[in-house]
Amino acid sequence: MSLLLSPITIGNLSLKNRVVMSPMCMYEVKKQDGMVTPFHFAHYGARAIANVGLIIIEATAVQPDGRITKYDLGLWDDKQTEKFSQLVDSLHYLGSKVGVQLAHAGRKAVDAQQPLASSAIAFNTSSITPKALSLDEIKQIRADFVAASKRAQQAGVDVIEIHGAHGYLINEFLSPLINQRGDEYGGSLANRYRLLHEIATDMRAQFSGSLWVRLSLSDYDQSGQQNSIADWQQVCQWLERDGIDVIDVSTGGVMDYAPNLPLHGGYQTPFATAMKQAVNIPVATVGLLDSPDLAEYILQTKQADLILEGRVLLRNINWLADAARQLHDHHYQHFNDSYQQGQMK
Ligand SMILES: Cc1cc2nc3c(=O)[nH]c(=O)nc-3n(C[C@H](O)[C@H](O)[C@H](O)COP(=O)(O)O)c2cc1C
Repeated sequence: MSLLLSPITIGNLSLKNRVVMSPMCMYEVKKQDGMVTPFHFAHYGARAIANVGLIIIEATAVQPDGRITKYDLGLWDDKQTEKFSQLVDSLHYLGSKVGVQLAHAGRKAVDAQQPLASSAIAFNTSSITPKALSLDEIKQIRADFVAASKRAQQAGVDVIEIHGAHGYLINEFLSPLINQRGDEYGGSLANRYRLLHEIATDMRAQFSGSLWVRLSLSDYDQSGQQNSIADWQQVCQWLERDGIDVIDVSTGGVMDYAPNLPLHGGYQTPFATAMKQAVNIPVATVGLLDSPDLAEYILQTKQADLILEGRVLLRNINWLADAARQLHDHHYQHFNDSYQQGQMK
């Protein structure tokens, strides 16, 4: 049996395999009200039928102006909880565990009239200069993350992932390239970690499920000023201390820079492995892990503990079945007998 397609238990979260659908915004909320639509049932339901162990629902905003675009999902209002809960129930019925990524887009909220950030520095020349958050506004954002996590808990999710990556708000506090604050939320690494620390500990106190954080471990900056790998190892140790269950390692998105390393399968995995050396909690890896052989090799060689699949699951719903064939995993069970018959010619 392959490791990729074998079960794993992390705390009280049991997954039927180690394949996780990476959060991917679908921009399908046509009414712009943050509510789940029939599209989300079909889109995520198809991946559940295709046996994805854990589906992490796309970046879901904790404030209307924290959306990347006005077509994003949201959990900023109690009205949004019921439909979300129905979506979670339907995915559970289809056999997948369900997570949601809670997010605030910060200065990358393209439809916000006044985007917010740690400091008033625009992402690029075509984006609006954000407003640097006041201490009261930081308090509000912290409260809104926690309120959204309560709604997610009520909706029955197994996992909440805090979006601390890709240059969105929490990342804008973590990165010294953007965070130029002079108060207790800026300056030292501990100060830049403060917002994530507060959100993580508040959520941990009220959410009984598995709490994950996604981080971007490189800003692809050449000036020598970005957080170092040692800094990120320190952040991950703090996250472990704060009760986080899994670190999900990505890169980029803070600056308007392309990656300055070759984009091959698993190009982000060395960053995950570096975090594994610093913490005792599982570490997930993402990024061009389309090859089942590569994914299996990463797990077998303990470079990471979980494999997140993004775009390949948009291209090929049957990726897990194909992976089972490629890995000669004869234990793999299709969703039901009829799907099993579909494999025979
Ligand atoms: C359409 C699309 C939407 C995405 N939305 C999100 C998102 O909501 N949250 C996030 O953390 N990453 C998001 N990403 C990044 C993916 O989760 C993933 O990290 C990235 O695509 C690399 O993995 P892959 O090579 O398997 O696609 C998105 C990527 C795509 C292609």
